[in-house]
Amino acid sequence: MSDVPVRAAISAIVAAHRGQRGALLPILHAIQSELGHVPQECVAQLADELNLSRADVHGVVSFYHDFRREPAGRTTVRICRAEACQALGADALVACARDRVGLAPGETAADGSVTVEQVFCLGNCALGPSIQVNDALHGRVSVDRLRSILDEAVSP
Ligand code: FES
Repeated sequence: MSDVPVRAAISAIVAAHRGQRGALLPILHAIQSELGHVPQECVAQLADELNLSRADVHGVVSFYHDFRREPAGRTTVRICRAEACQALGADALVACARDRVGLAPGETAADGSVTVEQVFCLGNCALGPSIQVNDALHGRVSVDRLRSILDEAVSP
């Protein structure tokens, strides 16, 4: 997508939320939903259009783990690291992702095949450790299971 359509898309999203109290967060969610991520160049535009400082906008984008700064890979693996899943072995899953595909949470493979993210509760706490692979939720995920999911995600 060239810069102009991105600017136009962002302006349309801002227009749809203008006047709403605390509009920045819903605007950022809408941008991610429409563009797949929150590009760095939108910070200045949002600051201008919402009459905020760039530091304010940047602070919100970087504070929330949900906002992706780069386009995601074809498969997104989200590992829950909230308390219940941590107690049930989430760290081993993060280590597995690092060993198997060389990705820490927040990183995308250079070939665009897979993105690994961390989240804080997928609402599946009793069946932890939990992960989400694109839209599918998986519970009681063993290291072996994650390894085979990752192998499938990176195969051509
Ligand atoms: S703590 Fe992991 S799903 Fe809730």
